[in-house]
Amino acid sequence: MTTAPLFDLTGRRALVTGGSRGIGQAIAVALARAGATVAVTARSKNSLAETCGAIESAGGTAIAIAQDVSDPDSARDGVAEAVRTLGGLDILINNAGIEEVCPSLDVAPPLWDRIVDTNLKGAFFVAQAAARSMRDGGNGGAIVNLCSLTSYVGVPTAVPYGASKSGLLGMTHALATEWAPLGIRVNAIAPGYFRTAMTEVFYENEDWQNRMLSRIPLARFGAEATDIGGVAVFLVSDAAAYVTGVCIPVDGGYLASI
Ligand SMILES: NC(=O)c1ccc[n+]([C@@H]2O[C@H](COP(=O)([O-])OP(=O)(O)OC[C@H]3O[C@@H](n4cnc5c(N)ncnc54)[C@H](OP(=O)(O)O)[C@@H]3O)[C@@H](O)[C@H]2O)c1
Repeated sequence: MTTAPLFDLTGRRALVTGGSRGIGQAIAVALARAGATVAVTARSKNSLAETCGAIESAGGTAIAIAQDVSDPDSARDGVAEAVRTLGGLDILINNAGIEEVCPSLDVAPPLWDRIVDTNLKGAFFVAQAAARSMRDGGNGGAIVNLCSLTSYVGVPTAVPYGASKSGLLGMTHALATEWAPLGIRVNAIAPGYFRTAMTEVFYENEDWQNRMLSRIPLARFGAEATDIGGVAVFLVSDAAAYVTGVCIPVDGGYLASI
């Protein structure tokens, strides 16, 4: 026997929120390469063409769905469309997220709401809709939430974001215990520093890059094409059948160092 079948997702039906670019795109492609059929969502269906093309080029099947996770009705409808099209749901990657840095003395309620409604409230109502479908399907399922280093440590000017991601870690722990009897595992990934549209603004500053690199033991930034998809595949596969309620940092050792 080889270990590969443990990681095989053939026949699994997956939904990846925020799959139009960056980390969500990389995870969607990795799930498809492992054999899953993948529905990807973003606020505009047009923005999903690149991801669907990459999945189809890899021999997979992709479905694009418009969904705004910050709106509970749209969150629920997007999951319902995925369930309808895929014939059920086995895997959810709760990846959609936004960040806007702002000094805490200047944070206004609309900024707080925008970030928390997307990253935390959105993730909850997507997970709830997905878990209802998994319960009705009777075969359990696997959910992965995209947390952050800010789930663990403080980053100045990122307080609404850090609060949303700390909340998401708490939600991961609580849902893992509540939904274990349904056969639904709930885990998380905390990416370190990956250069994406969300974080591009920081990378334009060379001093910032050097400061960060000096704090990452593996001495490089994350590469979403190769560093993150495999961890997601592991967490949703049978290889992780006895793993629930954990968050795996994918951060080059950042959180392990002082
Ligand atoms: N990059 C990093 O270093 C890093 C570090 C830690 C954690 N993370 C987390 O990893 C996840 C992905 O981040 P990323 O860096 O890949 O960001 P990104 O490149 O900006 O991608 C974010 C994705 O979320 C979608 N999205 C945003 N708001 C949405 C909404 N209301 N409804 C549905 N989709 C929405 C975006 O699609 P549209 O704009 O087309 O709707 C896009 O597909 C996020 O949860 C982020 O917090 C990233």
